[in-house]
Amino acid sequence: LHGAETIAENFPPIQNDVFLKAIRGEDVPYTPVWIMRQAGRYLPEFRALRAENEFFRVCRTPELACEITLQPIRRLPLDAAIIFSDILVVPQAMGLEVIMVPGKGPVFPSPLLTPEEIDTRLVKPDVKKELSYVFQALTLTRHRLEGKVPLIGFSGAPWTLMSYMIEGGGSKTFAKSKKWLYQYPEASHKLLDMLSDIIIEYLSLQIQAGAQAVQVFDSWAGELSLDVWDKFGIPYLTKIGSQLRKLHPDTPLILFAKGASHGMKLMSEMEYNVLGVDWTANIREARALTRPKNICLQGNMDPAVLYADKSVIRGEVERILDEFGLGLHVANLGHGLHPEHNPEHVAAYIEAVHELSAAKKKQ
Ligand code: CP3
Repeated sequence: LHGAETIAENFPPIQNDVFLKAIRGEDVPYTPVWIMRQAGRYLPEFRALRAENEFFRVCRTPELACEITLQPIRRLPLDAAIIFSDILVVPQAMGLEVIMVPGKGPVFPSPLLTPEEIDTRLVKPDVKKELSYVFQALTLTRHRLEGKVPLIGFSGAPWTLMSYMIEGGGSKTFAKSKKWLYQYPEASHKLLDMLSDIIIEYLSLQIQAGAQAVQVFDSWAGELSLDVWDKFGIPYLTKIGSQLRKLHPDTPLILFAKGASHGMKLMSEMEYNVLGVDWTANIREARALTRPKNICLQGNMDPAVLYADKSVIRGEVERILDEFGLGLHVANLGHGLHPEHNPEHVAAYIEAVHELSAAKKKQ
């Protein structure tokens, strides 16, 4: 690493700020687009690098994380980059082991079993030290992007991280972690509050290291009833939003709560500038709730559309752009890219967003 690249200052001036402008509701020449999991296994250059490096080794090595973040930016005309990392580095920093099992996903060999284990097994980490590799990767990447596009940082949301820590991996029913919410509400609040404080510090340090926007992923929000999410999700997301807003008044805050468009009203009452929506969301209703507050929407094409022909992709993009209307929209998929996606179809999606939105703007 060159000395200057390790310091979070004198970053190259931004060239493409369409993403940042769209979030602020400013006039933009076209609808900006980035894609969740844009750095991932659908890219042969990602698979090549991963073949020689274990997943969390990549996360922990700033040069490698930076390289993987830049891969999709070199190949595709994306309007933002997202730092390569994983939401599960936070539970790791709290003392839990997480391994990435090929073909299966993340596994906690020893998940949290009882509320007592919050005290006996979890540590409140020195975030700056334990997750320094993430901050270094952000600073390095911000320099190496040369201002081409803005850089997004991220964290998992408290409920999503809690569920991983208790389920020990993915789950179909979320039986164990939901049992905690119903059976051990106090312990659940204790864990969620502990996670929230860590997440606030983590995202604040990411912004200080060079992240120009941060996204909170509540991937399992949609597993909860509105009432339970209101009790165990929203208060912590609210705290994270308002603390970060105070610490970093000008940095866009993005919340993506998968499957939770039933909670759109609750989400629109927090301090996030951008709300992610998946393909099950009612866009007109979401717009009616968010437009008066100048909240930007992000989404929402079903990733499965990318398996279809390019003409089908274009048609679906056209329909989605019409539904959102111009402005206060960042195009994205409603969830991450799959390893099976064809990079050419991903390129066709981005091109369709750019061309069709620019044409609509001129109409
Ligand atoms: O979006 C990006 O390009 C940035 C990098 C990123 C990764 N994970 C890299 C990754 C981001 C933003 C995440 C977030 C993440 N990680 C979430 C929230 C988003 C979502 O998908 O809902 C979650 C739930 C995780 C946990 C996680 N990590 C799972 C469930 C898996 C396995 C699923 C899969 O795709 O295999 C991972 C692994 C993972 N994280 C991969 C990548 C590129 C693929 C694993 C590999 O390289 O072997």
